[in-house]
Amino acid sequence: MLSFNKFFEEEKLHQSPVFKILKDISEGSMIINEILLNGNPEHLKSEGTKNIQSEDVQKLDVIANNVFLDFFLKNKEINGVLSEENENIIQGHKTGDFSIAMDPLDGSSNISVNIPVGSIFSIHKKDNINTVTCEADFLKQGIKQECAAYVLYGTATILIIAINNQVNGFTLNLKEKKYYLTYPNIKTPEWGNIFSINEGNIKTIDPEIIQYVECCKKLNKDGKRTHTGRFIGSLVADFHRNMMKGGIFIYPKTADKPNGQLRLIYECNPIALIAQFSGSKSSDGNELILEKTPKNIHERTAFIVGSKNMVTKLLSFYKK
Ligand code: F6P
Ligand code: MN
Repeated sequence: MLSFNKFFEEEKLHQSPVFKILKDISEGSMIINEILLNGNPEHLKSEGTKNIQSEDVQKLDVIANNVFLDFFLKNKEINGVLSEENENIIQGHKTGDFSIAMDPLDGSSNISVNIPVGSIFSIHKKDNINTVTCEADFLKQGIKQECAAYVLYGTATILIIAINNQVNGFTLNLKEKKYYLTYPNIKTPEWGNIFSINEGNIKTIDPEIIQYVECCKKLNKDGKRTHTGRFIGSLVADFHRNMMKGGIFIYPKTADKPNGQLRLIYECNPIALIAQFSGSKSSDGNELILEKTPKNIHERTAFIVGSKNMVTKLLSFYKK
């Protein structure tokens, strides 16, 4: 089995600045993994504060943010960092050519009930060689991302990376403290039978989505179900399952969240790039996610992502 380093050597990417950033992500994730496995009850508590999006901040959100920030701010390739946990972008190294946006611990409201969580990363190359980071470095279409990655702290800890039109998955070997390539060149089936949506929102969402969900619930001619519903409430875990097995994840605009719940730059865009490179598709109902130009750094969006034919079918309801 190829180790993480060997894989990038074989891909001739091991000298690239992006590899240095991916190394930081892999090392940071090992620290988070250890902290999660230590099971310190103190870590499972809320900070008692709200973030910029008015969500409860968990102690582990802060810890994960600090762990990754420590790595990124020492990395000479990184010029600026945007995090879900920080209102403003953070200045990195003056000579860095890359900007990184992250959700350091996605799904953290699930921590106290022992449900998988993740870390999500979006990497852009700067357009201008200026030493100061600025919002324009982040307000870019997702299609321009150089690379995207997530870590899923689940039954095993895995690191999924989208680069050069391919998605590869690495599993952490705890004894050796090394990632190994375990899921080479991931491709999502064009059809799947999983639909993932928080049905608590169903009465307040676009009628097109309600229609699609109704289709998923239709029985076949033998009176058996055609789809299965799965919603964990941790985006990384929900997306990962659907990417591997085939399925669709839907988080639409709702009465509570009129712009959607998920953040475009550091949640949807990286997941959308991974989806694209694994052969699936994403949209907000009107526009492809990867073509949206963000207007502000913590912008939210409706998010539909998954098996190509399922997403196309859902979008066909919008056109009728
Ligand atoms: O980061 C936002 C998040 O926690 C995602 O991981 C998840 O998909 C979503 O929110 C769940 O939202 P809700 O609790 O409204 O279903
Ligand atoms: Mn999140």
